[in-house]
Amino acid sequence: MQKYMETVRRIPYAFILGPLFMTLEASGEFLLPYLMADIINIGAAGHDTAFILRQGALMAVMALFMLIFGVLGAWFAIQAATALAADLRFKTYTRIQTFSFSQIDDFSTGSLITRITNDVTQIQNFAQQLLRGAFRSPIMLIGALVMSMVMDPHLAMILFVVVPLLGLAIFLIIKIASPRYTAMQGSLDALNNYISESLTNEYVIKSFVREDFEEAHFSRVNGDLVDKSLRALRMMLFLQPAITLAVSVSTLAAVWIAGRRIMIGSMAVGTLAAFTTYLSQVLTSLQFLANIFLIGTRAAASDRRISQVLETEPDLSDAEAGEKTKVIKEGSVEFKCLTFRYFKEDPQPVLDHISLRIESGRMVGIVGATGSGKSTLISMIPRLYDPDSGAVYVDGTNVKDLSLAHLREAVAVVLQKNTLFSGTVAENLRWGNEKAGLEEMKEACRVACADAFIEAMPEGYDTEVEQGGRNFSGGQRQRLCLARAILKKPRILILDDSTSAVDTATDASIRRALAQALPGVTKIVIAQRIGSVMEADQIIVMEEGRIAGIGTHEALLASCLPYREIWFSQKDKEESL
Ligand SMILES: Nc1ncnc2c1ncn2[C@@H]1O[C@H](COP(=O)(O)OP(=O)(O)OP(=O)(O)O)[C@@H](O)[C@H]1O
Ligand SMILES: [Mg+2]
Repeated sequence: MQKYMETVRRIPYAFILGPLFMTLEASGEFLLPYLMADIINIGAAGHDTAFILRQGALMAVMALFMLIFGVLGAWFAIQAATALAADLRFKTYTRIQTFSFSQIDDFSTGSLITRITNDVTQIQNFAQQLLRGAFRSPIMLIGALVMSMVMDPHLAMILFVVVPLLGLAIFLIIKIASPRYTAMQGSLDALNNYISESLTNEYVIKSFVREDFEEAHFSRVNGDLVDKSLRALRMMLFLQPAITLAVSVSTLAAVWIAGRRIMIGSMAVGTLAAFTTYLSQVLTSLQFLANIFLIGTRAAASDRRISQVLETEPDLSDAEAGEKTKVIKEGSVEFKCLTFRYFKEDPQPVLDHISLRIESGRMVGIVGATGSGKSTLISMIPRLYDPDSGAVYVDGTNVKDLSLAHLREAVAVVLQKNTLFSGTVAENLRWGNEKAGLEEMKEACRVACADAFIEAMPEGYDTEVEQGGRNFSGGQRQRLCLARAILKKPRILILDDSTSAVDTATDASIRRALAQALPGVTKIVIAQRIGSVMEADQIIVMEEGRIAGIGTHEALLASCLPYREIWFSQKDKEESL
């Protein structure tokens, strides 16, 4: 509830005026039949035209006011519900921003998208219905019951039989439908997960001619959602007929009972007319309440799903005591007996007791077969993931004791799966340093060998980058990401396979420029080609989550079998080219 109060406090008037106007409208609703009964009983029966006109005019004025109140009530309710949803989306989004990679993995991106869109909409719908009907429907229900009692207590007995029966039926319908709605929402998660994955990788799907397979997969996920939705909505089919049946049966009973009494003259025709109107008012307001309950059960499921996000404490919380203000000056890195699994139940760890020291200012290469844990290892330094046991030290301080802001300011990572954002080239580069001037950007691009192709574009640094950087080649994208990282002026620069899509000659000139332009910076370079890290001060060889060897190229060639194997396999390939 707490999460909604902020919005209520921000625009309290909308939350008060919405129900208030709807209540005013409802009061008119049960006065109208009363006036109408008088027209029939007194005006029509007594041929009193003046009375009919007067009473009719009164009804018209009332109807006009009811219209105005109805519109105003709905308007404020919509305002309140929309603001509530916007605030909720914002809150959820900001919370997700604080999540670590593993927390996002746990929820799954698709589920987070569903929560922030569809689940919020469910709550918005409910809030709107609630503000419009929460007072109006009970008032109409009670008002109509009281008015019918006042007019004819005998006839009103019908309502006291029908209303509880109908209430029971509605209760049962909702009880069955509610868990089905939760299941439906789960299927929607699966669908969104699938869509977000396949649409972002549309290119891969096309290039592997996997459309048929993917279509089949999609129709499975989609079919599941259809099944679950039908199961949930099928229950709802009974609601409308149940109410219609109740209205018909009660009207029939009323006409039957009243008809005989009208014939013997103990009841006026107008009373029957008014009574049947009250009857349908009672039943429609019951229907409205049932609807609110139903949307409410759906919204409750959504509320739980959103609360799960909001109540998840970011597991990468900033250092509480620790050396919060410590600025990283040197850039040495040390792993101490570090073990890590992505899935805690896996028997084999992805990183297995890694201990390793990297002196500041060094250039360190990491090589190893694919899947050996290279990317995982470096992701521990800026705390993209936290180790299960053991620790990472930067400048002698456990990274968990440093503030995330300080840590990530000092560590620049060019991830293997790097991304550019929509905006211009310059805007993308400024992710590295908001205040960077054009000269500074040009310098960084020169080091990353990105200057030539940017300047060759007609718009230069103002060239628009399309979503995900589609309009740049793989190698160009890598170099832009590299320039972005250099602009950050980090103490530790980590390149994860960042020049894999760049030709060997450019790769070599990037390496030379990096060594010159960033002399004191610790550089950790993951590479597939040993040639890219051959001159490093230290090369680390990874094998199945363990370190198979550390040393210079020459030392490793002499002593490390896995290294020799990689080296000769690559040499043979290059020679055969
Ligand atoms: N986000 C993730 N969730 C679960 N498992 C993962 C995740 N990322 C990597 N893994 C697994 O961890 C292991 C090590 O992966 P990692 O990406 O560190 O390898 P790598 O040495 O960088 O390989 P490559 O050379 O192909 O980039 C692999 O078995 C991989 O399947
Ligand atoms: Mg990798």
